[in-house]
Amino acid sequence: MNQTTTPQIPLLSLKKQHERLSTELHQALSRVLDSGVYILGPEVKQFETEFAAALGAHHAVGVSSGTDALRIALEAVGVGPGDEVLVPSFTFVATATAVSALGARPRFVDIDPESMTMDPAAAARAAGPRTRALIPVHLFGQPADMDALGALARAKGLKIVEDCAQAHLCAYHGRTVGTIGDAGAFSFYPSKNLGAVGDAGAVTVADPALAETVRQLRNCGRETGGSAYSYARIGQNCRLDELQAAILRVKLKRLREWTESRRAVARRYIEGLAGLPLRLPDLGRSGSVHTFHLFVLRCERRDALAAHLTRHDIGNAVYYPVPVHRQKPYAAAQLPGESFPHTEEAARTALALPLYPELEPGEVDTVCRAVREFFK
Ligand SMILES: Cc1ncc(COP(=O)(O)O)c(C=O)c1O
Repeated sequence: MNQTTTPQIPLLSLKKQHERLSTELHQALSRVLDSGVYILGPEVKQFETEFAAALGAHHAVGVSSGTDALRIALEAVGVGPGDEVLVPSFTFVATATAVSALGARPRFVDIDPESMTMDPAAAARAAGPRTRALIPVHLFGQPADMDALGALARAKGLKIVEDCAQAHLCAYHGRTVGTIGDAGAFSFYPSKNLGAVGDAGAVTVADPALAETVRQLRNCGRETGGSAYSYARIGQNCRLDELQAAILRVKLKRLREWTESRRAVARRYIEGLAGLPLRLPDLGRSGSVHTFHLFVLRCERRDALAAHLTRHDIGNAVYYPVPVHRQKPYAAAQLPGESFPHTEEAARTALALPLYPELEPGEVDTVCRAVREFFK
């Protein structure tokens, strides 16, 4: 966020949500505290079942963060040292660092200028003999072009790990994201559409053997049901804990309703900002359902608009001002002649407006009026 104090209409507020759920959240926390079971107990198990059911996934495995979900999913599908993985550069840095953590190399790919998700044609050009997998990021709640990316993966024998950190319940041609590729990686960072009160994440898979690999990787390599000190592989401690799972179970029951509220806010923005020299997101591009983790518009005079909104006490933020390929750790990763014009353009023009399920229609109208005034 650009402001140092909380603006009158913040970019995001969890306060109302937590106030409304206060009794249930406290009951959930007490239930865990009183149970004396804090790691891999009934709450994690139940949450995994309920989250998988909500998505229509065969298996969901709770882990400690979205970053760990990505790394574990990649390792489970076979990504290792020396491999290349195609990732969009216009994303949160974890999409790339999860690849690097395995000794593999992210190969950056430009985005489609409309959806701001991985451009399948650019991905096809970037795929080479060492490419092992690709990570479509369903950015801001907008599904990536999974038909074209799926066709590319089949043609080249690549695995697909979907980065669903910003895309809970997002759908593409009737299928929920996280159930389309070989694995899905979810974040429950507090600000996400489904947020814990700390770090948390999940991996979704269809194949039961892959689910068991993911369970082992998140739990020090232990075989499920095996003895506590017998290990099937090298794993880490990346477990989802009982307290976070209990909180997530309370919130998951509201996720569909919250998603509808997010879409209603987005619809009001789209109507309220029509006709201005802006590029606005779509409620759903051909057969997809955008779940609006963020409402990101594009504006040629982005920085001036951001300053104007800040002066009007309206929260706003730039996602992402510097694409991953230009970040320090990846300074050497760019290949000669490579360029990412659509990524650069998005980094220069993208601006997020306030959006959360409890945002009132009157507040959306206030934001729209402030944006209209900027263009007067
Ligand atoms: C696109 C994307 N990928 C991965 C992550 C990483 O998730 P986490 O912060 O839970 O590690 C995030 C969230 O911050 C994200 O937005």
